[in-house]
Amino acid sequence: NKIGFIFDLDGVIVDTAKYHYLAWKKLANELGFDFTDEQNELFKGVSRKRCLEILLDIGKVKATQEQFDAWMVEKNEDYLRYIENMDASEILPDVTKVLKYLKSKEVPIALGSASKNAKPILEKVGLLPYFDAIVDGNSVTKAKPDPEVFLIAARKLGVRAKDCVVFEDAVAGIEAANNAEMTSIGIGDARVLSGADYNFKDFTEIDLSFFENLMNTK
Ligand code: G6P
Ligand code: MG
Repeated sequence: NKIGFIFDLDGVIVDTAKYHYLAWKKLANELGFDFTDEQNELFKGVSRKRCLEILLDIGKVKATQEQFDAWMVEKNEDYLRYIENMDASEILPDVTKVLKYLKSKEVPIALGSASKNAKPILEKVGLLPYFDAIVDGNSVTKAKPDPEVFLIAARKLGVRAKDCVVFEDAVAGIEAANNAEMTSIGIGDARVLSGADYNFKDFTEIDLSFFENLMNTK
């Protein structure tokens, strides 16, 4: 069968978690409380709206709908300022090597991200041409762990869900891949991502023969 590869963006292709963190921390501080690195873990793979709900819970801040909407805009404007000068140097180790390899094998590649900023980020770091399909926060109605984002990606690639392989750094993302009955690959801490079919700290740990073997089993 034809195999397809689906990549999450934040934490898999680029380390934007630190910029999301700075923007959320700035907002928290303005609202009079702190936001730690550890709490930021809860935000990985989680939509912007849900992140703000969690943040306000942490700070025990009550908001009117108007304030809520204004803070969503403010956080994103700050985030966009932080990522303004992002370039290829921020691509995580060996990601380009893996994308090049998969291209050379002519396997279709999709992005499956919760971020509404996914496309401009891929453009900034110069990786957009590698992707045959982009499914991001603008195209989904249900957030990870719902499988929607990955199922749309599979359909766009013309690959059966069962024959897709997903790279994810978030627990909700691994669950989404598993819910889609795809092969899930955790990138990051194996103890955190224990639900994944395979675990790697980062792409430097993956031998190209691993992809070869996956292709042969589909
Ligand atoms: C990714 C990140 C989350 C972020 C979400 C929405 O999933 O891991 O931390 O909240 O995208 O990003 P956005 O760029 O739309 O605010
Ligand atoms: Mg991620």
